[in-house]
Amino acid sequence: MHAPDDLSRPRLATLLRTMPKAELHVHIEGTLEPELIFALARRNGVTLPHPDVESLRRAYAFQDLQSFLDIYYAGAGVLLREEDFYDMAMAYLRRAAADNVVHAEIFFDPQTHTMRGVEFGTVIQGLARARHDARQALGISSELIMCFLRHLPEESAFETLAAALPYREHILGVGLDSGEVGNPPEKFANVFRRCRELGWHAVAHAGEEGPPQYIWNALYELKAERIDHGVRCLDDPRLVAYLAEHRIPLTVCPLSNVMLKVYPSMAQHTVAELLEAGLCVTVNSDDPAYFGGYVNENLVACFEALPGLGVREARQLALNSFEASFAPEGDKEAWRRRLDGVFGATENAG
Ligand code: HPA
Ligand code: ZN
Repeated sequence: MHAPDDLSRPRLATLLRTMPKAELHVHIEGTLEPELIFALARRNGVTLPHPDVESLRRAYAFQDLQSFLDIYYAGAGVLLREEDFYDMAMAYLRRAAADNVVHAEIFFDPQTHTMRGVEFGTVIQGLARARHDARQALGISSELIMCFLRHLPEESAFETLAAALPYREHILGVGLDSGEVGNPPEKFANVFRRCRELGWHAVAHAGEEGPPQYIWNALYELKAERIDHGVRCLDDPRLVAYLAEHRIPLTVCPLSNVMLKVYPSMAQHTVAELLEAGLCVTVNSDDPAYFGGYVNENLVACFEALPGLGVREARQLALNSFEASFAPEGDKEAWRRRLDGVFGATENAG
């Protein structure tokens, strides 16, 4: 059923692409396109297990989260120098700005690099310089959220925190990613407490492959302010009610969920149900170089597949992305005015 104000599908797609939006769930290492992997491998003298871009792309056929993570961590192996991190982040920010992303809160996985002998400072200085230059050149604002790899012990997260302290002004918050099942949020309760004491925001991946209990524990044990993915909350009506009442945002990643077989196809994705339940849902790209699209492709793919999504939901998703961001209220107000400009122009245009 479409609302009476609905536009034709092509016009809706244009609106989705044009509307200003924030992206809140993107792993910078997941934006490393195969072409850039090969360029960096050449620049750094790294030998790759695939002869060319096409054969690397053919390996992107995932069965589940872990089969993706194995390939994703291998791809990150070409990142060695500050300029590599800069080039990767600049490429993402350029691409995001082209999608009318006005603000991005970007995950990075320091342990993926420090475990290979790359200094924490190399990683963050490259990313920070790209943030600065993108703001100047493209007008896009961005922040960094440092993720701990949950398959590693909490002790390793504490070592990462120690390495991050000299650069703390570059970091907005902490998150939790990597293999979810068997690595519940409470494993990181102590390090998250320390991070919150530092004034950092807290978010966590939960309820991607893991059960609703992991979402509860991310909220109670980590005091997560947003849940990354969180789609499995639908298995627990009491949790859905709690998330709605407290306006805990879910950063949903539709193409990722289909590629990692959380849902068999986009037609079966529950993003429309989550919105219908009154949740503060946002749409994001997760690892766009691996999952077939950046934020606009994610939006267009779910609006094409799901009849419950129309103009009203498009606007709601953009509003949710601003509400769910950690940006200052003044910035949010300015973005909402820009959004009104875009949607005002579509009135009576259906
Ligand atoms: N889930 C968990 N860890 C990740 C993901 C994800 O979707 N992407 C990159 N690291
Ligand atoms: Zn993610």
